Amino acid sequence: MNKKVQQSSTLLRVKRFNSAPYFLFTVVALLCYFITQIPFSSFGPSLQLDIKDKDDNASIDPEQNVLQSLKINLASNWAKKYTAEAHLAGTNYPLVEWTEQKLQEFGFDTTIDPYEILVSYPKDHDLNLVDADGKLVYKAPLKEDVVKEDPTTYNDTVPTFLGYAANGNVTGHYVYANYGSKEDFKALKEHDIDVRGKIVVVRYGKIFRGLKVKFAQDLGAIGVLIYSDPGDDFGITPANGFKQYPKGPARQESSVQRGSVQFLGGEGSTPGDPTTPSYASKPGVERKDPHSSIGKIPALPISYREVKPILQKLNGHGAKISGFEGELDGFDYYTGPSKYQLNLFNEQEFKITTLWNVYGEIKGEKSNEVIILGNHRDAWIKGGAADPNSGSATLLEVARALGNLKRAGHKFKRTIILHSYDGEEYGLLGSTEQGEYFAEKYQRDVVAYLNLDVSVSGKNLNLGSSPVLNALLFDVAKKLDYPEGGSLYDHYVEKHHGEKIKTLGSGSDYTVYLEHLGIPSVDLGFTGGKDDPIYHYHSNYDSYHWMEKFGDKGFVYHNLAAKYLALLTLQLSEREIINFNLENYAAGLLQYYNETVARVPESWLNRSANSDRKEVEKEKKLDFEEYKYTKRITQSHYVTPICRRMQMGIIHGNKHHHHDESRNLRQILDRTYHQLTFLRNSTEQFDKKSELLQVQYDHIDELPLLQRIKLRLQIRFHNKSLKYFERNFLYSKGLNQRQWFKHIVFASGRYTGYAGQNFPGLNEAIEDKDFNIFVHWLHILNRKITTVANHLNNSN
Ligand SMILES: *[C@@H]1O[C@H](CO)[C@@H](O)[C@H](O)[C@H]1NC(C)=O
Ligand SMILES: *[C@@H]1O[C@H](CO)[C@@H](O)[C@H](O)[C@H]1NC(C)=O
Ligand SMILES: *[C@@H]1O[C@H](CO)[C@@H](O)[C@H](O)[C@H]1NC(C)=O
Ligand SMILES: *[C@@H]1O[C@H](CO)[C@@H](O)[C@H](O)[C@H]1NC(C)=O
Ligand SMILES: *[C@@H]1O[C@H](CO)[C@@H](O)[C@H](O)[C@H]1NC(C)=O
Ligand SMILES: *[C@@H]1O[C@H](CO)[C@@H](O)[C@H](O)[C@H]1NC(C)=O
Ligand SMILES: *[C@@H]1O[C@H](CO)[C@@H](O)[C@H](O)[C@H]1NC(C)=O
Repeated sequence: MNKKVQQSSTLLRVKRFNSAPYFLFTVVALLCYFITQIPFSSFGPSLQLDIKDKDDNASIDPEQNVLQSLKINLASNWAKKYTAEAHLAGTNYPLVEWTEQKLQEFGFDTTIDPYEILVSYPKDHDLNLVDADGKLVYKAPLKEDVVKEDPTTYNDTVPTFLGYAANGNVTGHYVYANYGSKEDFKALKEHDIDVRGKIVVVRYGKIFRGLKVKFAQDLGAIGVLIYSDPGDDFGITPANGFKQYPKGPARQESSVQRGSVQFLGGEGSTPGDPTTPSYASKPGVERKDPHSSIGKIPALPISYREVKPILQKLNGHGAKISGFEGELDGFDYYTGPSKYQLNLFNEQEFKITTLWNVYGEIKGEKSNEVIILGNHRDAWIKGGAADPNSGSATLLEVARALGNLKRAGHKFKRTIILHSYDGEEYGLLGSTEQGEYFAEKYQRDVVAYLNLDVSVSGKNLNLGSSPVLNALLFDVAKKLDYPEGGSLYDHYVEKHHGEKIKTLGSGSDYTVYLEHLGIPSVDLGFTGGKDDPIYHYHSNYDSYHWMEKFGDKGFVYHNLAAKYLALLTLQLSEREIINFNLENYAAGLLQYYNETVARVPESWLNRSANSDRKEVEKEKKLDFEEYKYTKRITQSHYVTPICRRMQMGIIHGNKHHHHDESRNLRQILDRTYHQLTFLRNSTEQFDKKSELLQVQYDHIDELPLLQRIKLRLQIRFHNKSLKYFERNFLYSKGLNQRQWFKHIVFASGRYTGYAGQNFPGLNEAIEDKDFNIFVHWLHILNRKITTVANHLNNSN
């Protein structure tokens, strides 16, 4: 269709209205609508508002086609290849090229995207236990055993180390600090156990390991030792009669969990390259001091076999604190210190080096609407059969299936891009840097991001998601069989006691998409349950052999993950109306809100919660800035000043904007609750309209030309609201102390690193007992939901 047809259709629509002012308004509004909605390219030879419908190869059913391709299961081939040689971040370029070549073979256009990032590589380490006279009592080997059945463990393995742990050679008394959480250190203090000048020994679990080091460092500790306690193995232990790997499902006693000790999600830190906070690590950029994101004290990881003689020397010394007990045999879980000392030596090479992301793309008809699937490639170890290369194998299977579909003549509606990231392990490096580099483009174009990290380490499906995608995740799960009977959906709801999907925190590559850019994201994978074999996370025993023998015999869960992901991708890329459910999001907001309000201290409720006038003005200005920003990204095309004013009027309807004169907190909480229910009502209507439009679209060929054009326009407007819905929850100034995190609903806990924290602004204020900050965030939330609800209401 060309420009003339579009204009005459405008006039035809307008003629139906006779009241003069309304007529004028409508003409201007519709003109604005056209000017702003139609890309300039429409005026040239390539037309976006194409009326040629369903130009696809109609004889192909895309879903059946990919499922057919995945009847063949090649996941084990890819897994074997990825786990054959060490592939730490920034190493093993041949594997980068191999990944690119595979994607090319499957029919994707590929790119290798390099970044220059600070990482650290192991050089040397040493750990000695000495008595009061300085005599050596025990020297830890700091090595995992060779296991005859498992060739991955033989040689060329990666030494045990912690990424970004500072270099140093320290000697001092040591104390046991349980999981090294905020509460654990508080408990130590309450028992008069001072960690200043000491080495802290903590066990893995509960919070991200980097924050254990941060908290210890903040309190003046000189070094950290982190070990895996059998007490965290759900009873699958030798003490309960389970044999160790490779003979049985229990943890191999020499196994060591490597990992990053970046301060991920902690206050003052940003994910990604610690020398380029919030901007991309391309050559020549300014480099900052990295120490707001990485530590200054040395740290080492250690096995439970090695830590035993060390911890046993604390028996009967210091305090016995409830909740600190594990199941290490011969240790009574006293905190120490004793007269014994540790000498801990860590040496690594810190360097800025090249990391490589690999991208593969199939262009859709709507090339500016993009679905991204991502997985990282780098591992701490030679193997990495689960973390991350179960995900890598799954991703290649998805690529193969989508490639076959393309080859069969199917034309994809939206663009699909697969990402293989480097450096996730050190601190979400590859994904964060590219997210920062392509921020504007991604915010404009990306509809959804699907993440795979460990796609298989057991049989239980786990999901984390932005709630707009929950309904889709369940719908697709209903279409797939679960290997042990029933559907994948049946399995999920049984395991999770209903349709419950957790919200996302951090710890994998979706972080930049959701929490920095506001792009709806999903993280999925099959993990082990309580009674399943211990998965040797970041250890040499996360190997192909373990996967084949214990993790996923026959690679059937790899295959299921690929089917699931491929179908989810098609649902997002091929449906005309973007397949998001907004009501689930609004319902989620209400639920998190209630949970938050329940924690508000009673004594706050009667306090006056007026916002400071100056503050209000400032925030209003910010709103306007953000509005412009959102416009810039949602509206890449020409906008006239008059149109902008009109759109402002439409979107910022005055209905629900009043000042907060003389209100106490209880009133503002109630008003916010009311606004949330208003939002839920708006989303309910909006979702109904989504369904209606899709049904109409499915029969578009039966409509007369003008109806068709009208439907197209409605869909266009509707799709746009769907696509940018989640962006509305970004706050450009970011969270307190963590400005990189922009999402006001979803973040990781500042003291946990991994786990999700909903409404972080509000909940952190409650934790800190800071009334004013709480009020500040409540006003922000109130404004955001009012804006969104008005906008949706106007679109209904
Ligand atoms: C180590 O690997 C080499 C090949 O790279 C092999 O020849 C040798 O047998 C291996 N050593 C052991 C102990 O298996
Ligand atoms: C580390 O310090 C200890 C104790 O001072 C010393 O014996 C040892 O040689 C040092 N190690 C290295 C590699 O410098
Ligand atoms: C459509 O698909 C069929 C069956 O896969 C194939 O034979 C045919 O060549 C395709 N047509 C086009 C135009 O790609
Ligand atoms: C939230 O709390 C209100 C008032 O206590 C209650 O009526 C409502 O059902 C709750 N909503 C959710 C989603 O929990
Ligand atoms: C808050 O005010 C209400 C009435 O205004 C009163 O009934 C209530 O006791 C007050 N609560 C507190 C905690 O002061
Ligand atoms: C939302 O809808 C419910 C049920 O239709 C209605 O009772 C309620 O008043 C509405 N709330 C708002 C704020 O619009
Ligand atoms: C929504 O629908 C319109 C009309 O079919 C289409 O042109 C547009 O690309 C779609 N937008 C999105 C974001 O999917």
